[in-house]
Amino acid sequence: MSDTPAVSDAIPSEGWHGWDAYAPFYDWENRRTVGRRDVRFWADLAGRVGGTVLELGCGTGRLSIPVARAAPRFVGIDRSEPMLNRLRVRMRRAGLAGRMSLLRGDIRELPFLRGWRCRLVMAPYGMLQSLLSDDDLAATLAGAARVLAPGGMLGVDLAPDLPSWEEYHRRVSLHGPASGRRRLTLIESVRQDRRRSLTVFDQEFVERRGRRRTSHRFSLAFRTLTVPQVVARLEQAGFRVDAVLGDYRGAAWSPDAEVWIIVARRA
Ligand SMILES: C[S@@+](CC[C@H](N)C(=O)[O-])C[C@H]1O[C@@H](n2cnc3c(N)ncnc32)[C@H](O)[C@@H]1O
Repeated sequence: MSDTPAVSDAIPSEGWHGWDAYAPFYDWENRRTVGRRDVRFWADLAGRVGGTVLELGCGTGRLSIPVARAAPRFVGIDRSEPMLNRLRVRMRRAGLAGRMSLLRGDIRELPFLRGWRCRLVMAPYGMLQSLLSDDDLAATLAGAARVLAPGGMLGVDLAPDLPSWEEYHRRVSLHGPASGRRRLTLIESVRQDRRRSLTVFDQEFVERRGRRRTSHRFSLAFRTLTVPQVVARLEQAGFRVDAVLGDYRGAAWSPDAEVWIIVARRA
């Protein structure tokens, strides 16, 4: 009998689906893909605003730890407990538990008391594209406006390339050693639902330790967003756009830029 669990052809109905299962593999994969290329940008922005930073979808803390070092106070929110557990370990190891707070919650309904304020809300690494509808995007931006002090900043980093992924089926996209004398292989499929502007990544991580082989399968869905679309939404939510950037060093944006960052201010 196969140890490969069945995977559904359905499109995940929520953008937070799949992340619990992804948690053990997230850092392994992202060390080989995005790496640290956006870290300095967010740490510098946090240092410049000089107040409490809220990260939406903080995950395993790839950005949270360096940002928390640069900010007087850091709050991270994420819906996935397994992702947050990894960040808790990192936070204690880094000796940052005194100025970091981690919350399990949904970014569409920020769980803060009325009157709680921060100076920077970060939505990095395509975070807003885990929201699969316009209503979810509007609710999240309204929540960000509510918790930002007047003049506070919102930074949004969009993944520009989602619609240009070609569809493919079960390609080995990564392979290599992992901790604990394991070897991991990522077998990935890509599906496009053009009508709903969704890109779905079906991932299977095959873990080998000695002769033991285990397979972990899940799907992640992301929504295509454009810069004009997000700018319009930001303005509706009460933000004024300060800058649109095309790289992490501050170059101006163009539609073919590899990086799409919007920095807005609560009006
Ligand atoms: C691309 S990861 C980003 C993690 C981290 N910010 C980074 O840059 O490495 C997206 C994270 O958002 C979380 N997430 C997705 N939808 C969410 C939602 N509606 N509310 C809260 N967290 C959510 C996932 O659990 C995941 O940890």
